[in-house]
Amino acid sequence: MSADREPAPLAPRLLSVREYEPLARDLLDPVHYDYFAGGAHDEITLRANEAAFARLALTPRILRGRGRPDLATDLLGHRTSMPVLLAPTAFHRLAHPDAERATARAAASAGAILITAMLSTVAVEDIAAEARKTAADAHLWFQLYIQRDMGFTEALVRRAEEAGCTALVVTADSPALGRHVRNDRNDFHDLPPGVRCENLRSLRADEPGHVRQVDLSPELSWDHVERLRAMTDLPVLIKGVLHPEDARIAADLSVDAVIVSNHGGRQLDTTPATITQLPRVAEAVGGRIPVLLDGGVRRGTDVAKALALGAAAVAVGRPVVWGLTVGGQRGVEEVLEILRDELGHTLTLCGCATPAELARSMVTGEGSPC
Ligand code: FNR
Repeated sequence: MSADREPAPLAPRLLSVREYEPLARDLLDPVHYDYFAGGAHDEITLRANEAAFARLALTPRILRGRGRPDLATDLLGHRTSMPVLLAPTAFHRLAHPDAERATARAAASAGAILITAMLSTVAVEDIAAEARKTAADAHLWFQLYIQRDMGFTEALVRRAEEAGCTALVVTADSPALGRHVRNDRNDFHDLPPGVRCENLRSLRADEPGHVRQVDLSPELSWDHVERLRAMTDLPVLIKGVLHPEDARIAADLSVDAVIVSNHGGRQLDTTPATITQLPRVAEAVGGRIPVLLDGGVRRGTDVAKALALGAAAVAVGRPVVWGLTVGGQRGVEEVLEILRDELGHTLTLCGCATPAELARSMVTGEGSPC
């Protein structure tokens, strides 16, 4: 699909989030489909994320008279209509001409928090304006790759602050880019003409049109996180935590939250599925800070399992991209609506009135401590 095509006609209402992927695949340029769908090396972790959810069982409670569930959740003092966020994913313009504008409108209209990617193809100011036009109280969090140049990193932080972003999500699992065999095979290393990382355009008037390269550094350390925290009053979340010891360090440093994530299987292949690491991370953190999770969440039951095992919320990556491809803003709204509906239904069947009532004892199987 060219970046300038007409928006796809609105898809008929689909019955599950997974059904959006084949439709998106039909619409996308195959090279871009591979970019969105693919993972690192043999894609073992990519498959493991979803498979691990399927291996867990939910054991409901009965006769508890809980009534209709309420999904509203507080995260770092931010109200979200459900404990499902939109994970940061880059280059939405490859999926749909309305790009991140459509994603932002959909998240805002669903009352869900969008973690907008530093590598967005619309500038963060425009994304924020679009979200606020849709819902004045919309929360937008900004995902950041700490750059080798801390001056440039600080400039990005200021832009996010001034745009009205209310938290920073530091992606900490990327001291180098993941190796994607599909992209290598397709020789996909550059964005098509007219599609740019708008947040990386130079702020300097004497460099019109200059776009910086992402400058990841293998030297990144907790020291950089501390320097970042000294730059801003915004809450800072660390995304990409898998080892319980790293979760403990984050909590000791009073980072505001951690996100258990393996980047959707796009960084180091053969890392464990996120849901299998969650109980260990939650235990290491010991309730001191919220723990979030992403990777392989495709059903309301997946959300419920993660919440029962200690997550305060989850985030979804590819399902949002497939919804965007298929129906722009409406497609993303549908994906979020399906997940909301399924989560509510799951809570009802589990005898829970709120996500907080999901207990560890309700999850059994590999990865569960029970
Ligand atoms: C991502 N992800 C990601 N993460 C991040 O911190 N910065 C980024 O720019 C991107 N870009 C990106 C692009 C695409 C196409 C995908 C699929 C993913 C990772 C993302 O935030 C999240 O961790 C995973 O997508 C979660 O897994 P699922 O829901 O896609 O299975």
